[in-house]
Parts: sequence; C-alpha cells; structure tokens
Amino acid sequence: MEVIIRPDAAAAGCLVARIMAKEIRANPHSVLGLATGRTMEIVYQYLVDLHQRERLDFSLCRSFNLDEYVGVAPDDFHSYRYYMNDRLFKKVNIDLRNTYLPNGLALDLDAECRLYEDQIRKFGGIDLQLLGIGRDGHIGFNEPLSALQSRTRMKALTPETITQNSSFFGGPDKVPRRAITMGVGTILECRRCILFATGAEKAGILAKAVEGPITAMISATALQLHRRCTVVVDEAAAQQLAHSEYYRWIFHNEPEWSEFQE
Ligand code: F6R
Repeated sequence: MEVIIRPDAAAAGCLVARIMAKEIRANPHSVLGLATGRTMEIVYQYLVDLHQRERLDFSLCRSFNLDEYVGVAPDDFHSYRYYMNDRLFKKVNIDLRNTYLPNGLALDLDAECRLYEDQIRKFGGIDLQLLGIGRDGHIGFNEPLSALQSRTRMKALTPETITQNSSFFGGPDKVPRRAITMGVGTILECRRCILFATGAEKAGILAKAVEGPITAMISATALQLHRRCTVVVDEAAAQQLAHSEYYRWIFHNEPEWSEFQE
C-alpha cells in the first residue's frame, strides 16, 4: 500500500484522475472498475476535463461498477447506472454498451451476481479499480462481516450506510435495504486499485483501514493484502494517520511520483 496526501479534495481528485489517465493511455483497452458516491464526483469531473482538453480516449475501455441498489430501475434518478451515465459515460467517448453495472431489477438476483462475475472474467479481469470508503469501512457495499474472499452477491445495508446515503433519497426510509456488490475477493483480484477518500468525517475509518489490523469488520482493511493499492486522500481525511510524515516523504522523493508533483 502507498498513501498519497494532497492539500484538498480538488488536488486529490485531480491526482486520482491523472493516475487513471496514465493507465488508460498506456492500455487503451483498460477494464476500469468504477465507484459512485459524493467523493467520486470530482474524479469524474477531472476525467471529463481530460477527455475534453487532452483527448483522453475511452473508446476502447470497458467498465464495471462496484454496486447497484436492489429494486431500483437503471433509469431511476437514484440508481448508480443513472449516476454513472450522468457524471461520466455521457460526457466522454466510452461506448455505453461496454459499461456494466449489476441489474438491481433482475428477477433472479443470484444468477445476476454470477453473470456479473462471469462478465468480469470474460474480459480479462479489472485493470484499475477505483474505490471509496464508507463511514463503516465498506468498499463497494461490503458491509461489516463481509468475508474477505466474498464474491459478487446481495448484501443488506447497515443503518450507518442507510443514514450516509439518505440525503440522495430524501430520507432514510426511502433508501433501498439491499444492494448487489462486487465481493471483497472480487475487488482484491483487480490488477491495481486506488482508494480515494476526502473530508474529516472519513479520517477515523481511513486510519483504521490503512494502519489498523485486517478484519472482516472493516472491509477496506483487506486492501492491505493487495499487491498494488494506492490510497489518495486530502489533508482532512489524513489527519488521524500515524505515519503521515513517512507517506509525504515517499510522494516527494520516490521517482514514480515525480511526474505527479504540481
Ligand atoms: C459506491 C461505493 C461506496 C462508496 C462509499 C463512499 O459505489 O462503492 O463504497 O464509495 O460509500 O461514499 P461517499 O463518497 O458518498 O462518502
């Protein structure tokens, strides 16, 4: 794991987008793993900007999103399909037919989960997975006690996640109770991952995820097992990290990061 701390959410989001752009340029056929939520909005804004200003080309990319609510139609304003079309897919030159999210309206949800895994495998696995972190430490919707080897499946949302996402739905009562999510095991198979977190409300859980013991109670701790995981955070989210000086030193001194200095 490596941790990069940037001054604010804009600088951190810009860095995430630039890392993704570098991967896409190196491999135009990249299979991207994507996330939704408030934190990611800035990353998608920068990717759209890179597409418009620097012709970042998504035409050969595929994408698989982490999760989707059960019972919410793709064209519903609250669905993650709607979010992705609105924030990214319709603003860049990705072929919509190459963008995948679980279908939360599938009649056989277990079969839908198996199909999703099959599709990821069919296209060679995920090259770069973008991840946010929930206040309860989830990645995707892998709520506490998700097995570290779990695969795509249905998961009941915790009261904390329902509260976290309630403003999107106009109140906690309206938030779906279940979602389809890639499993922790599915996520760990990606070739590279970026965990992106901003804001003081993520500082406590982020410190546990990065520096705490690995536990199924906090799914994000499983990323410590990943061979190539980059954690990008702003100062506010970094404030409870015990080793932040070391992380800063790496960013400013290791050659890999020199091209990303501002
Ligand atoms: C959404 C997802 C979630 C979010 C997390 C943080 O696709 O995978 O794990 O990344 O809940 O959400 P925000 O950014 O809204 O705090």
